[in-house]
Amino acid sequence: MHGHSLVGGCTAILFLVGLANGLGVNWGTMSSHHIEARIVVQMLKDNGINKVKLFDANPRMVRALAGTGIEVMLGIPNDQLANMAFTADYAKDWVKENVTQNLDDGVIIKYVAVGNEPFLTSYNGTNLESTLPALQNIQMALDEAGHGGTIKATVPHNADVYESPSNKPSDGRFRNDIKAVMVKMVKFLQQHKSPFLVNIYPFLSLQSNAHFPFDFAFCDNTASPIGDNGAQYADVFDANYDTLAWSLKKAGAPDMKILVGEIGWPTDGVVNGNVALARRFYAGFLKKMAAGKGTPLRPGRIEFYLFSLLDEDLKSIQPGFFERHWGIFRFDGQAKFHIDFSGKGRQVMPVGAKGVTYQTEQWCVVDPSKTKDKEKVGKNLNYACTIADCTSLAYGSSCNDMDFLGNVSYAFNQYFQAQDQDVESCGFNGMAMVVTQNASRGNCLFPIMIVNSGFRLVAGGTWLAGFLSSLVSGMLLLSLRL
Ligand SMILES: *[C@@H]1O[C@H](CO)[C@@H](O)[C@H](O)[C@H]1NC(C)=O
Ligand SMILES: *[C@@H]1O[C@H](CO)[C@@H](O)[C@H](O)[C@H]1NC(C)=O
Ligand SMILES: *[C@@H]1O[C@H](CO)[C@@H](O)[C@H](O)[C@H]1NC(C)=O
Ligand SMILES: *[C@@H]1O[C@H](CO)[C@@H](O)[C@H](O)[C@H]1NC(C)=O
Repeated sequence: MHGHSLVGGCTAILFLVGLANGLGVNWGTMSSHHIEARIVVQMLKDNGINKVKLFDANPRMVRALAGTGIEVMLGIPNDQLANMAFTADYAKDWVKENVTQNLDDGVIIKYVAVGNEPFLTSYNGTNLESTLPALQNIQMALDEAGHGGTIKATVPHNADVYESPSNKPSDGRFRNDIKAVMVKMVKFLQQHKSPFLVNIYPFLSLQSNAHFPFDFAFCDNTASPIGDNGAQYADVFDANYDTLAWSLKKAGAPDMKILVGEIGWPTDGVVNGNVALARRFYAGFLKKMAAGKGTPLRPGRIEFYLFSLLDEDLKSIQPGFFERHWGIFRFDGQAKFHIDFSGKGRQVMPVGAKGVTYQTEQWCVVDPSKTKDKEKVGKNLNYACTIADCTSLAYGSSCNDMDFLGNVSYAFNQYFQAQDQDVESCGFNGMAMVVTQNASRGNCLFPIMIVNSGFRLVAGGTWLAGFLSSLVSGMLLLSLRL
């Protein structure tokens, strides 16, 4: 139907090489325990991944990328936007320390991502004034330092910066409340030959709309196509991407390059977040990207960054419990499912992290003989889950089919591991005990913590938000811990 028989072996090789150029991953660090940066970088190399997007310019991570040939997109967090916007010297200093010095050390920097989804509707306009001036100051600082020709500053936007009243791509336009600033930003990007960066989440389209046609979330031509101005849309990725392409066209930038800054599928925490659907999504999407056909409005190869490399247990769960399960790999760098980065659809496991140091093989579980006081057991469970990550217990998740005491053991173990297996953290009023037999049950993995690699995340806004939204009754305990 699509002329696969015409594609000879030679073309297939070109596709493979081409894909390596288009594919990158997001490497986030909202985790309580980090694998050493050099191990993560080796993992990228072992999987042939040669582009990486960061959310800041963490020196340990950036230095580990020096001399590897891996292309880096550095990030500037939203809380830095105001500084960058209103004091040009901040931007200059940032470029000097995080771009010029790293280039000198052999890091290949292609882009600077200014802010992260700063115009998200839920931010209520907080970054509306600062984002464009910050972008301008960073690009100006890059130009002044002589990097402007090769390093482009841009802003990673959530797909909620545009909309289509009819849901048809051709009706796409920038959101009304931010239209003026978006049009100015697009002009600026255009003058500097910089790309538009957008995060597109078919998973969230499915998740946020009970009537969403299920198969349309996947790029495997299983949904009925939707027609628009003579074009046929077979999946929501194409439709979403072209809604942006139409919005850019109407803003006077019909040819602006579009980079997909984040795209992926979570594996736990919600009914539609599981390994089987993640595998299906990535298989279809990577195959489509490898074919290099692009979308109806924008034929050609697309550059994209998968979200995400690793699970992050400190991500805010405000959007949903799935937020902590976006990793293609677990937090410890172990592969979760078959994924073929070359887009050939082979049933292969990606190469996991090598040389990760684990803590002792021991688990903290409930002592069933000490659970007469059910109310107290419940309180201990709540306490453990207020501090530690219990999102895998949620409805539809990997640990949702255990009995009550299974739940309690899972919570106790998560708390114990998060506290680096501190003996005192397996107390719970005498209800808990440390065991050396693997406590995992069925599909539910009771993890062993890794030895933290030294750089510890400072508690930031997102981390707090995660706690607050998951809090039921532990307000006092939270303030104690902080
Ligand atoms: C460089 O980036 C790091 C990490 O994001 C940040 O902490 C630091 O403040 C930046 N340097 C300057 C001079 O802004
Ligand atoms: C945005 O406004 C809503 C409703 O007033 C509020 O609940 C929320 O905390 C605000 N978010 C931010 C980031 O200010
Ligand atoms: C275990 O916990 C989950 C999540 O809170 C809950 O849905 C489930 O009903 C619990 N199981 C039992 C037997 O209490
Ligand atoms: C415990 O068992 C689970 C499930 O069988 C397995 O995936 C995991 O690797 C085991 N953990 C250890 C430390 O052996």
